[in-house]
Amino acid sequence: MSARKILVTNALPYANGPIHMGHLLGYIQADIWVRAMRAMGHDVIYVCADDAHGTAIMLRAEANGITPEQQIANVQQEHERDFAGFGISFDHYDSTHSTTNKARSEYIYLKNRQAGHIAVRPVHQLFDPEKQMFLSDRFIKGTCPKCKADDQYGDSCEVCGTTYNATELLNPHSTLSGATPVEKSSDHYFFKLPNFTEYLQKWTRDQGRLPVSIANKLDEWFEAGLADWDISRDAPYFGFEIPDAPNKYFYVWVDAPIGYMSSFENYIQTKRPELNFDDYWKKDSSHEIYHFIGKDIVYFHALFWPAMLAGAGYRTPTGLFVNGFLTVNGQKMSKSRGTFIKAETYLQHLNPEYLRYYFASKLSDKVEDSDLNLDDFIQKVNSDLVGKVVNIASRCAKFINTKFDHQLSAQCAEAELVKSFIDAGDSIASAYEDREFSAAIREIMSLADKANQYIDEKKPWALAKQEGTEQQVHEVCSVGINLFRQLVIYLSPVLPKLANEVQAFLQLEKFDFASRKTILLNHEIAQFQPLMQRVDKKAVDAMVEASKDSLAAPVAVPVKAAKKKEKAVEKPTSTIESDVISIDDVLKVDLRVAQVLDANIVEGSDKLLQLTLDAGEAEPRNVFSGIRSQYSPEDLKGKLVVLVANLAPRKMRFGISNGMVLCAGNDERLSIISPESGAKPGDKVS
Ligand code: MSP
Ligand code: ZN
Repeated sequence: MSARKILVTNALPYANGPIHMGHLLGYIQADIWVRAMRAMGHDVIYVCADDAHGTAIMLRAEANGITPEQQIANVQQEHERDFAGFGISFDHYDSTHSTTNKARSEYIYLKNRQAGHIAVRPVHQLFDPEKQMFLSDRFIKGTCPKCKADDQYGDSCEVCGTTYNATELLNPHSTLSGATPVEKSSDHYFFKLPNFTEYLQKWTRDQGRLPVSIANKLDEWFEAGLADWDISRDAPYFGFEIPDAPNKYFYVWVDAPIGYMSSFENYIQTKRPELNFDDYWKKDSSHEIYHFIGKDIVYFHALFWPAMLAGAGYRTPTGLFVNGFLTVNGQKMSKSRGTFIKAETYLQHLNPEYLRYYFASKLSDKVEDSDLNLDDFIQKVNSDLVGKVVNIASRCAKFINTKFDHQLSAQCAEAELVKSFIDAGDSIASAYEDREFSAAIREIMSLADKANQYIDEKKPWALAKQEGTEQQVHEVCSVGINLFRQLVIYLSPVLPKLANEVQAFLQLEKFDFASRKTILLNHEIAQFQPLMQRVDKKAVDAMVEASKDSLAAPVAVPVKAAKKKEKAVEKPTSTIESDVISIDDVLKVDLRVAQVLDANIVEGSDKLLQLTLDAGEAEPRNVFSGIRSQYSPEDLKGKLVVLVANLAPRKMRFGISNGMVLCAGNDERLSIISPESGAKPGDKVS
């Protein structure tokens, strides 16, 4: 068998937020596949990068008072740390904000332009006259033209479900400045996707290109007809300027997938100069390229991406591997339930291999959502890995170590049994290759059951107490160790850390799938060390607790009246005149650290400033605050403040205010209460 040459990529995570459990599903899936293919002897290169461009990243940097370059460098460092923590074995990790990517993006664009796939025409869009920028739908809110619900985004109404153009919203306002947007026209650049309709209809039906369920879904889009794709954004935008189009930038989704190519190119340049970029990417290359992506980004990968590549004369990916979404305890990840678990938080409490195993036990080649049920997680890891697999070694190793001077027996007492384990490796390998990980795990665990049955029957611990059974004990335990080795080799793509430890314990030079075929006889092993601890429920609870954030609803729910009066409240010894309240009253107020993303003067009010706050939620908050007499907007940007997060929203003449910022003083002398640096948006103040 000759080694296949394979390039694997994972979706590039956005450089504006932390890696969480949902992301990890796709990264762990790809890593297991990569490791399995490597263990089968294939030549796999595995690259990724941060997706560094776009408005969100630009605004976040602005709010943090740093350059976008600093912002993306900080996040990239965190992402790389988290991926390393979970054993994701990228050969190279890059950023889409690289000179290589800029050059490649320009090249692909120009090739497509030459071939007649680019159009230019004016687009009418809402423009924020204060921020001096065009607003995407996310940054416009107003009243739904249909049901008249307030506070709806520029693309669709969350109350009645109608979709509309942002220009149809009633009383629209910019969520960035509060200003009323104006309609303005500007030239946009379009990629003429309809030119590729026939090509894509065939491409998406090519064998192995896409999961069939996805190809079926794409048919609906073909039926509806493909439309030109708007690939430009006006300045200010953090991205690459479009050649021959000053102040126009590539929309982030243009240069993002090109990041797959440029990360690979930078890998060659920095680490593997003997490799040739075109060998992989030229039109008729026989090397394989696979993209692992989540189901939400199929449209970009199955239509725009192959069309852009084809239009520029490159080959297209061999296949797209698509994962479903992750829920935790049966529901969407939620900060209030503590199930929005960051990679970093997980690693502070639990062994990453538990999660890798749990995901493996759930994943197949289907585009299905997976659930991380935390009770099931504890149960499965403890019963399979600790109870079945690791247990085999701990039962057998101590005899080999103490009674037989670390030496395995010279002959195999159960050649048939060991051989059946070796033979099972072929179907396990092909299950991995087909991304049927749950099937692979089931097969491995049924082997583990057999190994345990064997040891239970032979009872080496009982034999060891009898006279004249030395050799039998030796042989039984040696069979046990051989079976254990087979199991751990099969699990090595899923549990690389455990596999490394076992490889060291068994003193083996090789641990790939082929190496399993020789039985270990007369072989010296090292002193056994405990391999994997049980999952501690307390650690899981602590992780959930650490992930908790009671800032549940983005729009605060009015505080409910206290259920019962506390009895016998006495007035504290104090000269401050105020009503006495109970601790329950205090606890009702949800105080949070928030960071000022943006501050603006409110036209028509000399008291108010409009603040856009990051309170650690999915969406920024809008708060009007009567601090204009003491603060100018520039003073506030980036500042940490304390927010009353569960204050009922108040409708004001200028818009809806969602919360209140705490200040000390009075009208003449007013100062914002600001946490020391080190506090983070969303932190609870108590
Ligand atoms: N930057 C784009 C991808 C560009 S690829 C050229 C992006 N980034 S992301 O950070 O939002 O998502 C990264 C990957 O994580 C995507 O594959 C996405 O589908 C996946 N997931 C994000 N949340 C997820 C879950 N809750 N569950 C499973 N996968 C999830 O999209
Ligand atoms: Zn509506």
